[in-house]
Amino acid sequence: TFSPSAVLVTGGAGFIGSNFINHFLPANPGCRVINLDILTYAGNLRNLTAVEQNPAYRFVKGDIGDADLVRRILAEERIDAVVHFAAESHVDRSILGPEIFVRTNVLGTQVLLEESRRHWESGAIERFRFLHVSTDEVYGTLGETGYFTEETPLAPNSPYSASKAGSDLLVRAYNETFGLPVLTTRCSNNYGPFQFPEKLIPLMIHNIVAGKPLPVYGDGRNVRDWLHVKDHSTAIETVLKGGKPGEVFNVGGNNEWFNIDIVHLLCDLLDERLGRPGGESRGLITFVKDRLGHDRRYAISAAKIKRELGWEPSYTFERGIAETVDWYLANRAWVDEVTSGSYRDYYETQYGGG
Ligand code: NAD
Ligand code: DAU
Repeated sequence: TFSPSAVLVTGGAGFIGSNFINHFLPANPGCRVINLDILTYAGNLRNLTAVEQNPAYRFVKGDIGDADLVRRILAEERIDAVVHFAAESHVDRSILGPEIFVRTNVLGTQVLLEESRRHWESGAIERFRFLHVSTDEVYGTLGETGYFTEETPLAPNSPYSASKAGSDLLVRAYNETFGLPVLTTRCSNNYGPFQFPEKLIPLMIHNIVAGKPLPVYGDGRNVRDWLHVKDHSTAIETVLKGGKPGEVFNVGGNNEWFNIDIVHLLCDLLDERLGRPGGESRGLITFVKDRLGHDRRYAISAAKIKRELGWEPSYTFERGIAETVDWYLANRAWVDEVTSGSYRDYYETQYGGG
């Protein structure tokens, strides 16, 4: 197995990247972590208070597209693994403005790959891995049956997923052409603490608490496969250490839900916790215009990562969702902070106020 001594994590101030650092750093004493993040609306250093005093941790504010900066970090820190989370990650934003998605997700990934290749070829380090964190959305959409496997052809439908597919193909090409030791993970929908409240679960929790309308797109019968973010972090660590370079690993929770059922569940959990009469929050549900190009169903087969690397999710959805609801109730200040300012402008554009 591969055990890195200095990991460059990109996008480590975001939802999943910060969860990964908070998990990986204490679990791997002797390994340093350098977090490169430009701190967009989605990046928040408060997600990392648990590790900020750790001498093995360093934060660098900067752009993955800045080749000089990336080159310097790789060389000075003797980086032997890159775990690449940095991205624009929200589908609705990619419909409002695709350009930044191409710039960050495609061009930014290319810069990281190119600098990684030069670093690796310089012989400065003995072993190297580039782990690219991707998404099941690159496979497009499923009908009522079937699963995405690693062999499913890429057929992205949104500017977000097209930009992620573009980055996946560049990662593949750097392996085929230059022999760069890359790994790609494609995970289903994550949920858990510190998720930005533009995504379904934290948005609904936030609006239920605030007594605001709950915007359900279309008929609410789109299906997503939900995985706790901590399980995604352990999957990434498992693939980084044990995956064969050049390979792709799907990651999923085998936990499919209709959106409307998730919203009902959150309403009921919160009614109970907030002491509201049963059914009250469901009254806030508002069916709104469907997302353009809305993928109907995602479902992941995670058979390969289980078979080859022994990874399985540890959270049941029942436990994970209850803990997540409790976390958001206990961390209202975090939510208030990230939903002020530029998020308010986005929310107005997306939902027309409310
Ligand atoms: P997020 O939006 O919460 O965080 C993205 C982070 O990247 C932020 O901290 C942001 O500041 C940073 N960033 C953006 N542009 C950057 C740049 N140019 N340079 C440096 N940093 C930059 O996203 P997330 O939900 O944590 O997703 C992380 C990764 O996982 C993404 O690549 C996403 O495609 C992938 N993914 C997400 C999910 C999910 O359900 N959220 C599922 C599968 C895969
Ligand atoms: O599958 C992995 C992907 O999951 C990641 O690659 C993306 O980064 C992540 O954002 C997520 O994409 P989705 O589009 O599936 O997630 P989102 O939370 O935006 O929406 C989940 C479902 O809920 C989707 O069918 C749209 C619907 N939805 C979403 C919002 C924000 C609503 O009905 N109302 C809403 O207000």
